[in-house]
Amino acid sequence: MDKIRVSLLGSTGMVGQKMVKILSNHPYIELVKVSGSPPKVGKRYAESVKWVEEGEIPEQVAEMRMVSTEPTDHRDVDFVLSALPNDVAEGAELKLVKEGVNVISNASPFRMDEDVPLINPELNWNHIELAKEQRRRGWKGMMIKNPNCTSAILSLAMKPVLESVEHGRIYITTMQSVSGAGYSGLPFMAMQDNVIPYIKGEEEKVHKESEKMLGTLEDGKLKRRVLDMEVTTVRVPVRVGHMGVITVETKSEVDVDYLKKSLREFKSLPQQRNLPTAPRSPIILRDEEDRPQPARDLGQDDMAVHVGRIRSTGKALRLVVLGNNLVRGAAGITVLTLEVMRELGMA
Ligand SMILES: NC(=O)c1ccc[n+]([C@@H]2O[C@H](COP(=O)([O-])OP(=O)(O)OC[C@H]3O[C@@H](n4cnc5c(N)ncnc54)[C@H](OP(=O)(O)O)[C@@H]3O)[C@@H](O)[C@H]2O)c1
Repeated sequence: MDKIRVSLLGSTGMVGQKMVKILSNHPYIELVKVSGSPPKVGKRYAESVKWVEEGEIPEQVAEMRMVSTEPTDHRDVDFVLSALPNDVAEGAELKLVKEGVNVISNASPFRMDEDVPLINPELNWNHIELAKEQRRRGWKGMMIKNPNCTSAILSLAMKPVLESVEHGRIYITTMQSVSGAGYSGLPFMAMQDNVIPYIKGEEEKVHKESEKMLGTLEDGKLKRRVLDMEVTTVRVPVRVGHMGVITVETKSEVDVDYLKKSLREFKSLPQQRNLPTAPRSPIILRDEEDRPQPARDLGQDDMAVHVGRIRSTGKALRLVVLGNNLVRGAAGITVLTLEVMRELGMA
């Protein structure tokens, strides 16, 4: 089998390191280049990274020499996977796609553009075809985006819920881990013994990105699903794992057993095709009264999200959703998106 050769931008960051780890054992995606900020170009990966992932740096990556984000450094790969900060990504990724390099990115610029697929594979793998419209812009490469970490985790659980329940307004409050802000994102002194009830730009992203991903394709164009949604995002002193409490207004009592069955049985193309990074069950139901919990439920099978505390009063349905922001929220879906593209003959 021919391998898909990829390079990784932002390879030393929180998402980048997770991607290095996931790709180190991949059956057909080969990481051939790693990139970092300009002062690191030319240095060995091992001396450029503050490695925080479990275990050692994969041997084949440790000795690689860091490259820039310039197209000349990436012409000989099939795809560039990007974990660049948003401000750097905007210009760097645009330059790459204009020059014929295909990019799958975690950064927010271009996410909401009509012709840019925003992919959370189990939800909307079929939206990938929107990228074909990008030729009209004169781009020679394709640009595919992954959602914000919180949107990725919550929308996966919301898909079967919104399909099973006649709903009104949706209220979401999140508890988001510190790793969501990147390696140097939040100082220890700001977070220890503390909760910060504001994350810049996050509430709008959760709302608008969910509407885009849960939308449908009609005549090759994206029709967003309009959602009446109120979101509050909160940073909590947890290392990894984003949790969301979702309250959905309902007109009548919800059949909770039926809903649980829908959540448990939810599967999509990545599961049907048994893709290497796909979780066997994208949604893991927790029946215990005090789960899910980041400390107990994360660490394995992190492409799945955990759902618990499902309650219906007749006026509202409540549930708690937890996922790994670095895996389901970022690195894992980037890799799974590329696996889906290969299935569709686009990689
Ligand atoms: N953390 C999450 O949970 C999460 C989830 C979903 C999406 N995202 C998104 O994913 C992206 C990466 O997030 P992160 O948390 O991994 O951030 P991070 O830990 O701050 O890592 C940033 C990476 O970008 C590199 N970089 C910084 N400035 C650069 C420049 N001028 N040129 C080239 N490379 C540069 C850094 O390299 P150096 O080490 O050389 O500085 C590092 O490898 C962001 O767009 C973020 O919004 C993050």
